[in-house]
Amino acid sequence: MTDNGVLKVAMPKGRIYKQASKLFRQAGLEIPEEFDDSRRLIIPVPEANMEFIMAKPVDVPTYVEYGVADIGIVGKDVLMEENKDVYELLDLAIAKCRMSVIGLPDWKPTIHPRVATKYPRVASQYFRELGQQVEVIKLNGSIELAPLIGLADRIVDMVETGQTLKENGLVERETLFQVTSRLIANRVSYRLKNVAIQELCDRLSVTIAARA
Ligand code: PRP
Repeated sequence: MTDNGVLKVAMPKGRIYKQASKLFRQAGLEIPEEFDDSRRLIIPVPEANMEFIMAKPVDVPTYVEYGVADIGIVGKDVLMEENKDVYELLDLAIAKCRMSVIGLPDWKPTIHPRVATKYPRVASQYFRELGQQVEVIKLNGSIELAPLIGLADRIVDMVETGQTLKENGLVERETLFQVTSRLIANRVSYRLKNVAIQELCDRLSVTIAARA
């Protein structure tokens, strides 16, 4: 690799980035604040010998699997859905939420159940393991609309504060799993840049433990 040992980090744009950059700063890494609200996609972080690749969260595992990023930060939800060939190194204990089955309060089992979700792989596996046959409909956002307008009778989606459910008159029925952001690594980078990656993991682990 001809990058002078710079660690390329796939960072999820948006709300996870704010929490991730805060965690990195607490771990003693000098992350310039000027980029917090920037539209720049490649951010050099020379003080930490890193370069941030600002990615759409769902694409982070792809960048890491292909090795264009050595490591990345991604929610467990995306990691489960994308199922890429990467190492999961650390639970960063940020961006805490949960993956749930949600429906209207008066939901009753139907003969041909339909479930709308951004996570078709996760949802299909969940219902398959329960032995329930459901039609899974993939949507890309505003999933809560689906039961309100009759596209699906339930949804599988993320719940953080519960505000979206409350404002739309929906209720959680079951929780599939808890979600936090994870540090992931490319398999080759993990060997070639092991010292730098391990040092970062150690720093982050100490900071996460101190926060708990
Ligand atoms: C996510 C998720 C829920 C909402 C949950 O959507 O899909 O809709 O946040 O958060 P809450 O429990 O704090 O209300 P996001 O904002 O990412 O937008 P999306 O509808 O485009 O998926």
